[in-house]
Amino acid sequence: MTNDVLTVHGGTPLHGQIRVRGAKNLVSKAMVAALLGDEPSRLFDVPRIRDVEVVRGLLELHGVKVTDGVEDGELVFDPANVESASTDEINVHAGSSRIPILLCGPLLHRLGHAFIPDLGGCHIGPRPIDFHIQALREFGAMVDKAPDGMHLTAPNGLHGTKLELPYPSVGATEQVLLTAVMADGVTELRNAAVEPEIIDLICVLQKMGAIIKVHTDRVIEIQGVPRLGGYTHRPIPDRIEAASWAAAALATGGDIEVLGAEQVDMMTFLNVFRSVGGAYEVTDARPRAGQEGKIRFWHPGGELRAVAIETDVHPGFMTDWQQPLVVALTQARGLSIVHETVYEQRLGYTDALNTMGATIQVYRDCLGGTPCRFGRRNFKHSAVIAGPSKLHAADLVIPDLRAGFSHLIAALAAEGTSRVYGVDLINRGYEDFEAKLAALGAHAERG
Ligand code: EPU
Repeated sequence: MTNDVLTVHGGTPLHGQIRVRGAKNLVSKAMVAALLGDEPSRLFDVPRIRDVEVVRGLLELHGVKVTDGVEDGELVFDPANVESASTDEINVHAGSSRIPILLCGPLLHRLGHAFIPDLGGCHIGPRPIDFHIQALREFGAMVDKAPDGMHLTAPNGLHGTKLELPYPSVGATEQVLLTAVMADGVTELRNAAVEPEIIDLICVLQKMGAIIKVHTDRVIEIQGVPRLGGYTHRPIPDRIEAASWAAAALATGGDIEVLGAEQVDMMTFLNVFRSVGGAYEVTDARPRAGQEGKIRFWHPGGELRAVAIETDVHPGFMTDWQQPLVVALTQARGLSIVHETVYEQRLGYTDALNTMGATIQVYRDCLGGTPCRFGRRNFKHSAVIAGPSKLHAADLVIPDLRAGFSHLIAALAAEGTSRVYGVDLINRGYEDFEAKLAALGAHAERG
């Protein structure tokens, strides 16, 4: 019997304080980087989320000893005895996350071969891995796609190369970084992603002994080194989670203080939040004075205003900020426009909002000027949200992580009792979300 459902009694503004920890989309990559070293690494502020468990499991299968450190959220990785794992053991993790693809380079360096299970992750479009495979082949890897997964070898070793990504993919940039750092010679990557999580991964690799230059115009140059040591690192905070709670404050007419949130990586979000009519106050961290950084987000009363946003690679408006914010946009007066340019199918969740009383129409056209790969390919990737709409309770099924959080916010904002099915998916990226909801005064219970 599964109890994967949350009953949400909506209509109560969320008030209070919660904390975000290390960014999910950095922590999991830093864990993979530990595999490259020949000394132990230490990572702080690791959230208890499913993606972390999956990577931990994969590292342990490959002989990395993973232990809890002294501090809450501290993990220590000892890669002294890296070893091969059987395909059957690895396949236990098939379909559970997209991170395993990033083990290719590190395993090739450490073992000379790698097996990668079928990937999982959120169903937000086809999510191909062609850039990854192309890059690995250019480093000299032999990639063999089999029904059970992907087998890789590097009979002549891995060599630095010149690459240009067709699109600044986060994952493919990380793939190149994690492979190039120990490849023989220099790698030049053009059209690289430069998200803050990527820069933080570069900091991790640099601490291990890598030589990486980030030039202007999305060019990254990596000089391969023969060995890497360990790292001690405190990751950047999770700016997606912080924005999700900010959207929850706005949609429910509440007031949420997000401890650990930092302004610098959220500037684009903060601009939009203010344009919609939300209020926020930044408190900078002052470690020597014992002061933690935080951002307080609240609905200052009055009407929210419609906005036009286009998701984009950094420093644009993140695609992962889009779904939670759209719930708040259903409460804004006028027509808001969202042009999703990162994923071709990330607006399906709006159907559920419409069943709750929202008025959202999705379009195949590009409703915005940002160049986009989807306009001529018939994908419904733009949305117009007419507001304000009174949301009412409904039974909802969570389709993916970020859409799931938006469903949750919608249920909290709506009058009446909703049942949200599939909430366990939210644990993939939001630590202790049920405890946080309770701390914010939400009325929600399992079952
Ligand atoms: N793409 C390709 N071929 C590739 C790789 C990517 O066509 O080989 C396309 C994708 O289909 C997509 C676009 O490029 O249309 C961008 O994908 P990207 O590779 O940048 O995304 P990712 O690395 O798979 C990470 C985050 C996502 C986040 C995106 C964009 C992790 C584990 N995931 O995914 O986060 O949306 O970057 O910022 O870091 C989430 O946290 O919920 C989440 C989905």
